[in-house]
Amino acid sequence: MTTRRPTIGVFDSGFGGLTVLKALLELIPDADYAYFGDTARLPYGSKSVETVARYAVEAAHFLENNGSALLVIACNTATALALDSITAAAHVPVVGVIEPGAEAADSVSKNKKVVVIGTEATVSSHAYRKALEARDLHVREKACPLLVPLVEEGWVEHPVTEQVARIYLGEAFGEGFQDADVLVLGCTHYPLLKALLHRVVPPHVSIVDSAESTGRAVVAHLENLLPPTPGMPEERRARPRVRFFATDSEDKFRRLGARFLGHAIDAVQHVDLKE
Ligand code: DGL
Repeated sequence: MTTRRPTIGVFDSGFGGLTVLKALLELIPDADYAYFGDTARLPYGSKSVETVARYAVEAAHFLENNGSALLVIACNTATALALDSITAAAHVPVVGVIEPGAEAADSVSKNKKVVVIGTEATVSSHAYRKALEARDLHVREKACPLLVPLVEEGWVEHPVTEQVARIYLGEAFGEGFQDADVLVLGCTHYPLLKALLHRVVPPHVSIVDSAESTGRAVVAHLENLLPPTPGMPEERRARPRVRFFATDSEDKFRRLGARFLGHAIDAVQHVDLKE
């Protein structure tokens, strides 16, 4: 079932997926959005495959029941651990962040050697490794678990965060990977650290943000799902309507979410998912 103005459902463990929503709003302003942040159950990055898959499938059903014609799994951990389960459970197309991120890394890397950073769970799943090796790239993955809480603390330009990033990336770009020429940001929170990370990585390194590459993948999906209608009146392309849903405090979502989205969030609806 499609409408001319689709609702795109965006799912994340919490606030971080708002970096993906931000990219989507810029690329596809003529859609409506439902954003679901599972703030009561985050972080996903330290949880098991079974738990993340169960949570993510519940969230996907919620978004479908709220009219989503397409689901974007903005959470790297949920994509890495549960994309197959979500796709099997959903009745609408599902786009994760890992394939678009790997595709972008492949197109940017000249020497086909890349470093991926993410949560403990994303790195342990080797989902990025598989996607990149399928494209004949050499990969080093590095879990950076301290970066998520530092970003949530708002320390995106803090000397402590820079020091932590130097340690992680010093290890990642060490022995055998000094010449890697791409860093893939395999976590929703890392786009907020882009400026800091540019200072920390060797100067020849390009940074691939899976939030942006996922936005481009969604554009391609929508073109298949909803071919453009000739003569569509201009007023139908007005500002997107965005509904926010969170499983924990609405107030906290508004406060923290604004940092990720880049502007204020007015209304958030609390959701209690029954397990
Ligand atoms: N959204 C998660 C990710 O992109 C980071 C936060 C969490 O661990 O839940 O991997």
